[in-house]
Amino acid sequence: MKNYYSIKKTALKVRKLIIDCISDAGSGHPGGSLSMVEILGCLFYNHIKYNPKNPGWNKRDKLILSKGHASPGLFSYLAMMGYFEIDKLSTFRKFGSMLQGHPNLQCPGVEFCGGSLGIGLSFSIGDALAARIDNSSRRIYTIIGDGESDEGQIWEAAMSAAKYGIDNLTVILDRNYVQQDSHTEDIMPLDVIAENTNTENSIYTIKNKWKSFGWNVIDIDGHKIEQIDYAIRESKKIKNKPSIIIANTVKGKGIDHMEHNPNWHGQAPQREFIPLIDTELNSQFMIAPSIIAGYSSDLQNKIKLCEHAKADYIHLDVMDGIFVNNKTFDFKKIKELRNVTNLPFDVHLMISNPLKYIMKYIDAGSDIISVHVEACNESSFGEIHDILQNRGMGIGLAINPDTKLPEWSYNFLTSLDQLIVMSVQPGKSGQKYIETTHAKTQSLLHILHKYKFEGYIEADGGVCQTNIGQCFIDGARIFVGGNAIVGQSNVQNAITEFRHTILYTIKKLLISQANKIGGSKFIEKWINLHNKEKSSMINNIATDLGYM
Ligand code: DX5
Ligand code: ZN
Repeated sequence: MKNYYSIKKTALKVRKLIIDCISDAGSGHPGGSLSMVEILGCLFYNHIKYNPKNPGWNKRDKLILSKGHASPGLFSYLAMMGYFEIDKLSTFRKFGSMLQGHPNLQCPGVEFCGGSLGIGLSFSIGDALAARIDNSSRRIYTIIGDGESDEGQIWEAAMSAAKYGIDNLTVILDRNYVQQDSHTEDIMPLDVIAENTNTENSIYTIKNKWKSFGWNVIDIDGHKIEQIDYAIRESKKIKNKPSIIIANTVKGKGIDHMEHNPNWHGQAPQREFIPLIDTELNSQFMIAPSIIAGYSSDLQNKIKLCEHAKADYIHLDVMDGIFVNNKTFDFKKIKELRNVTNLPFDVHLMISNPLKYIMKYIDAGSDIISVHVEACNESSFGEIHDILQNRGMGIGLAINPDTKLPEWSYNFLTSLDQLIVMSVQPGKSGQKYIETTHAKTQSLLHILHKYKFEGYIEADGGVCQTNIGQCFIDGARIFVGGNAIVGQSNVQNAITEFRHTILYTIKKLLISQANKIGGSKFIEKWINLHNKEKSSMINNIATDLGYM
């Protein structure tokens, strides 16, 4: 999948821009802007045909934001994609600005004045029919909200799109389960559960509603880039019927006190909390189980178990028996495994002369490829870097425990997506974490900052429950789990425990940061932004730590 890391890195920047512009304006809609961030990222990076320097280009596709109140999300992406200067976002909701509370056509890249909910879908169908009459290849991508789906016009449009067999339209429902006043299912349930059934097979769920209107329906996790990308690609293959992607998302995604919280549908974050919000947004982490661990040779099953357990990546350790003594598998096995899952393949090449084989690993379906500094030099890594970059693939570099990050690598740091800091000697899973790696990782942060590394440090080797918290504090954001995950009898539990330990570590960091900002009074203010359940949990942690 193309641009996985470009989308991920831009999503982080966009979330910060959303918070900044709403906070500066003192009003706006953070919740529904944050929930669609990965959706917009996939659309802009991999699907919409557009030219920010020529917004009116007659061959462009169109993005219709029907849930117009989420304009900060749209405006932040339009700025990031080059339609206008990023600092224009500071004029959001100010008199005379082209960036008003709801999109209007003064703003380049805006195709529809969304705001009055329910009409964007009808507008899109009209535009799709016009494209058909013009014999244009234009595709329309429309984002609607679940609260918005209370509007009858949405269902009139649903009927007409099916009647006219509109297949140059992809609708994405940002299914974040919260609308202005409360939770959608309390106000007007979209997922009605029929007698003696459950959400999965009730005939009255939102999925079955759209199916019954004659639409092609794809149900996904709306924050998983690989799933969004796959669904949009699939929607384009459907002929003579419209497609809707039900993107299950989290309102306020990325900021714990906003997540699932109706209070943050339309409330501006106060500036004093921004440093904590930034820390939270920078704390996004990924779990990458290493499938060479454990005794079973059934790699397919291991991948399925990890996918079911909501792993973020599959970490594939390729060993050639030359760079390391051990031999595992090569690109042929990766090709075989590719169709088992959509999860990104995080391929760790422990092979000599990676440049010679890099195309084979690309063609096999890798998403991210990391090579060892010990197996290349500035020139060969430069070639590998360019080959991967030109294909929108994740670019990784790995260093062994005894290896210092070589100076020749510094110039690649701005475009490097991940740096694997090995905490065992490469060659097999199940080894003990080398404790000096904590200090080594921390010592790298200074160089990474200096050379504007915006990627992710991957902790790889001996990572487990007892050291993962410290690995997070060291700066790692991707955690490879071999023996500690795939080597365990219950993979699901292992991944859940990894997550819980990291989330607990993040909370401790936030509490101590809040304490530095304004002592226990400020901690209390920050805790009170959360809902009751989260507030008491954080209160307990703060008390246990002696801050309250
Ligand atoms: C070692 C590999 C690691 C290893 C991780 O050469 O690069 O990915 O498989 O397994 P654990 O977590 O058991 O060390
Ligand atoms: Zn590895």
